[in-house]
Amino acid sequence: MLNFVLHTPTKIYFGKKEVDRTGEIVKEYGQKALLVTGRSSTKKTGSLDKVIDSLQAADVDYVLFDRIEPNPRATTVDEGGRIAREERCDLIIALGGGSAMDAAKAIAAVAISGRGIHEYIRGNKTGLWKELLPIREALPIVTIPTLAATGSEANSGAVITNWETKEKSSISGPALFPKAAILDPELTFTVPVSYTADGAVDMFTHLYEGYMTGNEQANVQDEITEGLMRNVVAYAKTAIDQPDNYEAREHLLWTSTLALVGIANAGRGGTFPVHQMEHTLSAHYDISHGRGLAILTPAYFRIVIQNDRPHRLARLGRQVFNVTGSDDLAAVKETIQAIEQWFKEIGTFDTLKNVGVRQADLQLMAEETVRVGGLGKGFLDGTHPISAEEILRIYQDVY
Ligand code: NZQ
Ligand code: ZN
Repeated sequence: MLNFVLHTPTKIYFGKKEVDRTGEIVKEYGQKALLVTGRSSTKKTGSLDKVIDSLQAADVDYVLFDRIEPNPRATTVDEGGRIAREERCDLIIALGGGSAMDAAKAIAAVAISGRGIHEYIRGNKTGLWKELLPIREALPIVTIPTLAATGSEANSGAVITNWETKEKSSISGPALFPKAAILDPELTFTVPVSYTADGAVDMFTHLYEGYMTGNEQANVQDEITEGLMRNVVAYAKTAIDQPDNYEAREHLLWTSTLALVGIANAGRGGTFPVHQMEHTLSAHYDISHGRGLAILTPAYFRIVIQNDRPHRLARLGRQVFNVTGSDDLAAVKETIQAIEQWFKEIGTFDTLKNVGVRQADLQLMAEETVRVGGLGKGFLDGTHPISAEEILRIYQDVY
């Protein structure tokens, strides 16, 4: 395996009713919080009330910023940063899905520097990102996920969209590691069927991308990954059929965290081509991230992996979907069918056309994936570089 440094400093509080301890937990990090959340779900489900009650009980002051949209935008982040500065907040609490958590991280950086978030974003036209990355200064962040999907709760990344230029880009840096993450599975009981399924596909993709594209001599990491994938597949359908099944929700939530906290890919690395292709889709069409990944996955397997690393996909099939095909090629075909079947069972099997993408935009989006996402590398070892032409073939395959 490759040499690696692994640093996962987020203190995790996991379990039933842990949300009720929010006030006592965050007190260690600040006195006055900007409480960052989405526009409606946390009010409807009661999770916002739980957090506020706990803050009040612990005498922690807060200002509510409840304007985060799915696929959070740079303009919203800048507004949050301005409010945090004006209100002299010394702590950021994120309550919600990946969008609220990512926006909260970006706000934590903007609140300290007073700069617009575009100055931190890779690929922006000012060139300032080189000076600013990785982000070393931000207000302390505490995350409280209400949806199992991104793993943003305990990693140092965030994804922000510039809706005007249709660029969705990542920011990252040591200061963006949340100080603490409060993982209360009951907060995810109310996630609707479609987002439960999209979230499952998101964590599954976080797991397979490193597994397919990284160093191939990392068996411990591969087996960790396979175990986590088996859990996503086993519990996603249960959570869809029985939304308040605690066992299913706790396994999905912990898997989402473990999938992208660094452990699975340490020493294996990897590239994230399917993520880059998806980020272009949601930057142009504002679709759900997990749904975009579900659309692209079968085509990526058919066009890239089946040709260049079939043995990896065959292994995934055998370990996760009990595929029995005698040789690798037979196993690959069976695996792609099994994954498509799983997507159908959980309701994420879809096409680009069906989510509103115009065929005329495919070429531009393929080029944008290379330009904005910096996508060129197919595998970590530099083999199979992915070109705009190949991305176009992938988009067309699932149109
Ligand atoms: O918008 P609100 O009202 O909050 O409702 C949300 C939203 O409409 C709703 N929701 C969340 N928790 C709920 C709930 N509804 C009922 N009950 C609950 N308990 O679900 C909808 C989707 O939420 P969102 O946060 O947008 O979804 P997700 O967690 O999938 O986050 C997606 C964003 O994260 C980025 C994606 O690109 C996308 O912008 N990612 C972040 C990553 C990271 N930081 O590590 C990695 C990922 O690969 C991903 O790129
Ligand atoms: Zn993802």
